[in-house]
Amino acid sequence: MRVCGIVGYVGHRPALDVVLDGLRRLEYRGYDSAGVAVLVGDGLAVERKAGRLANLEARLDEVGREGFAGTAGMGHTRWATHGAPVDRNSHPHRDTTGRVAVVHNGIIENFAALRAELEAAGVELASDTDSETAAHLVARAYADGDTRGDLPASVRAVCRRLEGAFTLVVTHADEPDLIVAARRSSPLVLGIGAGETFVASDVAAFIEHTREAVELGQDQLVVITRGGYEVLDFHGEPAPAKPFTVDWDLSAAEKGGHEYFMLKEIDEQPTALADTLRGHFSDGRIVLDEQRLSDQDLRDVDKVFVVACGSAYHSGLVAKYAIEHWTRLPVEVELASEFRYRDPVLDRDTLVVAVSQSGETADTLEAVRHAREQKARVLAVCNTNGAQIPRESDAVLYTHAGPEIGVASTKAFLAQIAANYLVGLALAQARGTKYPDEVAREFHELAAMPEAVRQVLGTTEQVKALGRELSEAKAVLFLGRHVGYPVALEGALKLKELAYMHAEGFAAGELKHGPIALIEPGLPVVVVMPSPKGRAVLHSKLVSNISEIQARGARTIVIAEEGDETVRPFADELIEIPAVPTLLQPLVSTVPLQVLAAEIARSRGYDVDKPRNLAKSVTVE
Ligand code: F6R
Repeated sequence: MRVCGIVGYVGHRPALDVVLDGLRRLEYRGYDSAGVAVLVGDGLAVERKAGRLANLEARLDEVGREGFAGTAGMGHTRWATHGAPVDRNSHPHRDTTGRVAVVHNGIIENFAALRAELEAAGVELASDTDSETAAHLVARAYADGDTRGDLPASVRAVCRRLEGAFTLVVTHADEPDLIVAARRSSPLVLGIGAGETFVASDVAAFIEHTREAVELGQDQLVVITRGGYEVLDFHGEPAPAKPFTVDWDLSAAEKGGHEYFMLKEIDEQPTALADTLRGHFSDGRIVLDEQRLSDQDLRDVDKVFVVACGSAYHSGLVAKYAIEHWTRLPVEVELASEFRYRDPVLDRDTLVVAVSQSGETADTLEAVRHAREQKARVLAVCNTNGAQIPRESDAVLYTHAGPEIGVASTKAFLAQIAANYLVGLALAQARGTKYPDEVAREFHELAAMPEAVRQVLGTTEQVKALGRELSEAKAVLFLGRHVGYPVALEGALKLKELAYMHAEGFAAGELKHGPIALIEPGLPVVVVMPSPKGRAVLHSKLVSNISEIQARGARTIVIAEEGDETVRPFADELIEIPAVPTLLQPLVSTVPLQVLAAEIARSRGYDVDKPRNLAKSVTVE
């Protein structure tokens, strides 16, 4: 099983350079080994290396890059979940003659049977991967039978035999002018340049060269050449593919002067929010995009589920408060990995909102499939154009956060909250639970949030200094109530994943039911305060919670609204955020927590873009 980045190229430039540049932009997908194959003369030059891309590049310098002087090639950056990240398991994989090379993302579920079949036929497999079987199968199909001498037909025949999810890119030394790629439930997109064609897991791999892209459908195969491409289904029939123009450019995928992508992405949050909201309020009404659900469908909804993983799940927990308040519909928020295994009560009138930055997360995708089988309507909230989750949903609302390269979600998280809120307002509007002027007011308050986030970003020095101080802490607790509770969970998740520090988020009201036993002298406890005006009762309850933990020696770090004087005596460190409407506070209170986690991680010497054991897209369950 893999979560990987793939790039393939046929054109007029040195393929090795194009492929390595592409891999560099896809490294967020996986970074525990990398490899390249270039068609040279009548052969294939292949190199692969465990570890980061830099290891592969060092190896290429050692062996000499002159041996890779061709204009067609492909590469792979791997994230191993099966088959250790060692050289021999790195892609590309070759057949026994070394004339066929394959890179693969996904899982070939029937690989054990295929492997046994190949071994019975006397093939010696050189790796522990499922992917290698595809290389041998293609080579055998190409050598024999109806598909003999026809690479696209050979790959189609193999794809028909594969079970599971895969993106495959295949080259054969006998066919130096073309590359064949295929996909099932795993991403693959084409880039169309002048006299050059690309295939990749993500447009980031070729955005430097072209913004003209083509989305491939399920069970489709593409043959790329210098002059263009042909899309077929697995039976060789022409298949429809959808061209689109990428609406961001290379600078959006570069660090823009920041030390890490994540720090750049934190700074981009005002723009991500504004872009996500843009165009969704017109003629006094909320409008969703790619709305394949009618107003009547929305009126019929009698229950909402939000399904997602990780930070996206937290965005759902935040939105529950707003959607229930605005629509009076019950909202359940569920981890996608749990959802389909517990037989949730779903029917035609259930709206399932599937939230995913990548649009590829396997657990969320399976939850979508389960919901649709049960006849529920599914609306995807997604940051990736044409990804699998929106494709399989009834409707989609895109977040326009731009590419998120840092593994830890930041700007996509804020954009998800905004998009979830748009869904809530669209429901309230269709159901008439809010008057048009109320919907308009809520939208305008939302539209003021980019400015509020910008204000928070202007005052992060204090948080950074605190981060440096806390870098030696053993653990940090996060407390919140109401919408501040999911913010506490998100703050703890950021710290775990970036700083590898023990961190827990709690609903502050639960403290006395157990977690207060964790409090010991010096333990940093971050508290997200509600507004003293907006939620006076909760505010005073939380003040009592803080005084309890302070009395037990904890170091209290309080995130509170500007001018909140009542909390000041209980705050060892007070971080002020602008006053905003209660339901919108997570959009500002999350920001200092992101900055804090990033700074603690940096002080501890960790790479905040690529935390250990994590990959950006989790395409395995
Ligand atoms: C945390 C983080 C993850 C993702 C989760 C879902 O910082 O990034 O928890 O939020 O893996 O990913 P998507 O949104 O791509 O489905």
